Amino acid sequence: MVKIAPSILSADFSRLLENVSEVEKAGVEYLHIDVMDGHFVPNISFGAPVLKSLKGKTNLFIDVHLMIENPDLYIKDFVDAGADLINVHIEACRHIHRTIQLIKSYGVKVAVTLNPGTPLHTLDEILPELDMVLLMSVNPGFGGQSYIESTTKKIEKLKKMISESGLNCEIEVDGGINLSNVKEVVKAGANIIVAGSAIFNTSDIDATVKAFRNAI
Ligand code: DX5
Ligand code: ZN
Repeated sequence: MVKIAPSILSADFSRLLENVSEVEKAGVEYLHIDVMDGHFVPNISFGAPVLKSLKGKTNLFIDVHLMIENPDLYIKDFVDAGADLINVHIEACRHIHRTIQLIKSYGVKVAVTLNPGTPLHTLDEILPELDMVLLMSVNPGFGGQSYIESTTKKIEKLKKMISESGLNCEIEVDGGINLSNVKEVVKAGANIIVAGSAIFNTSDIDATVKAFRNAI
């Protein structure tokens, strides 16, 4: 089953809990939490306290996407704040294997994220350790960018890599996904779809989530 993961980066922060409740009521499964530090990516979003403010107020699966340098230093904070899964960028981790073990030691799910320019073979040694791979379909840092078309082939290739190794690893895709291209992304093999602006920058969130479900 394909899961929808709205990114709160595009939510109205003055009404954050209301926005989260709206997508939850509309039937999404995940909540995507985009954390940016102004170093790894050229933008700053928010940190663990914002996630903590939602703790106990939603039953959605909390999918934390860390776009930060030195993620090892902050993983525990995000687990304490309610993360169910932690995504770290392979480009930000000098010792990716160690970071993966650290995330697992907290009993949450672990995913590795690849930027559009990072090849799939960087996953060769770590794929069996992962619950999920997150493929970026935009260069991270901002919501509302356009989907990079070459991602579709990359998803297909990753899907093949996973099934040929007999693994049970999920594929999430993030960036520029909207009602016109979501079908292509799912068809290529993604089973978790992140959408920020396409869901929160609409006047009727409920109708948009339902339209996504239909398109899938
Ligand atoms: C990009 C973030 C994405 C982004 C998605 O750096 O990781 O999650 O918010 O937003 P849209 O769907 O607007 O591209
Ligand atoms: Zn993200």
